[in-house]
Amino acid sequence: IPLAGVIGNPVGHSLSPGLHGHWLRRYGIRGHYVPLQVGEDDLAQVIRALPRMGFVGANVTIPHKRAVLDIADQASDRAILMGAANTLTFLEDGRILADNTDAHGFLANLRQEAPDWDPSRGPACVLGAGGAARAVIAALLEAGVPEVILTNRTRPKAEALRADLGTRVRVLDWVQAGNAVDEAETVVNTTSLGMEGQPELRVPLDGLRPGKLVTDIVYAPLRTRLLRVAEDEGCTTVDGLGMLLHQAVPGFERWFGKRPEVDREARDAVL
Ligand code: ATR
Repeated sequence: IPLAGVIGNPVGHSLSPGLHGHWLRRYGIRGHYVPLQVGEDDLAQVIRALPRMGFVGANVTIPHKRAVLDIADQASDRAILMGAANTLTFLEDGRILADNTDAHGFLANLRQEAPDWDPSRGPACVLGAGGAARAVIAALLEAGVPEVILTNRTRPKAEALRADLGTRVRVLDWVQAGNAVDEAETVVNTTSLGMEGQPELRVPLDGLRPGKLVTDIVYAPLRTRLLRVAEDEGCTTVDGLGMLLHQAVPGFERWFGKRPEVDREARDAVL
């Protein structure tokens, strides 16, 4: 019986076991997906042991997404560009492959939830410059946005992302976030602002107009203030849960041989 799991510390909050468990039942696949709480000091040893215990792969979450790159035998170009991996696949010959599916998850979610979205229509504004922003910016550039306007409270982190991701990224000060929103056709919040227990995102939103696409990577709550205001202004809105569901698709397909659907049932399985 093939096993997979999610490696993190802590890992109790992860939605992945609920999602993969749903897909395994739904497709009648004999397999199990379990949370694996692993400390930093044990990470390499545990990962090396997993294939010997019947594991075919694993997702990786905070705080291990960077460290697993050094443990894997091979990392995809995408994982190297991201400096982080979220999906490990254990090959029959013993090798461990590391991949990063966050950018895929972000784009696949937008394509499914907002099929009329045209990235080439104008610049995209990205709020925040953490790990999630890196995947989001790479995805937007790949999708064909003419420019990414990037703004972050700590400006040097935005500058560093620009240095890695290229000249189609323009950095603005955090106090100019309202201007970035105004100029952009696509607006993405990648900060933790608006998440349960965190302060609200308080950037000026009067630049939101009908036809713009607005999405948030925060998914608790599902309807953040940003998305509520955007909806009221007539924007197309996409919530953050879909990205999380879609980033899980490539791993499940590789490990269990079936490409799973991201649909209402999958959403309900994790809510
Ligand atoms: P992730 O990997 O999920 O992106 P992260 O790397 O911790 O998480 O990034 C969190 C993002 O939220 C950062 O852009 C952070 O801004 P800083 O780089 O200035 O820390 C942003 N963020 C968190 N709290 C914030 C706040 N109170 N005001 C503005 N930005 C905030």
